[in-house]
Amino acid sequence: MTSQFSLPFTAIKLIDRQHAQYVELVNDLSDWFYSADFDTNSLGAQTEAVVAYALEHFDAEEFLMRSHNYPDYEEHEAKHQKFREWIDGYQEKTASSNVTVEEAQRLLHWLTKWFAEQVKVDDQKLADFLSR
Ligand SMILES: [Fe+2]
Ligand SMILES: [Fe+2]
Repeated sequence: MTSQFSLPFTAIKLIDRQHAQYVELVNDLSDWFYSADFDTNSLGAQTEAVVAYALEHFDAEEFLMRSHNYPDYEEHEAKHQKFREWIDGYQEKTASSNVTVEEAQRLLHWLTKWFAEQVKVDDQKLADFLSR
């Protein structure tokens, strides 16, 4: 399967640079996901880098929001928090290697569709504020 995941540009350099890096990691992961090498027992190891990068990116955005006294900080942070909580549960499962293919697909959903929606709505709103 060819890599097709992408994210819209926000026009804020730091955010777009990190999103581009994230897109690369997600596409590497989804190449593996749809390859013959896919194995649920390796999920924890295979998803470590992309999950860590997503979390690092949320921290960076939250720092940016706080340092600009962004008025919708709480709303945006709550979305990131939803992701963190889901990931915590997922990581507990991968630690005991009990992950099903359905859960792996659910992870891919959070990393792609959910993430892209969060960029389109919340990151764009932040970018509009920052470029005013
Ligand atoms: Fe973002
Ligand atoms: Fe965000």
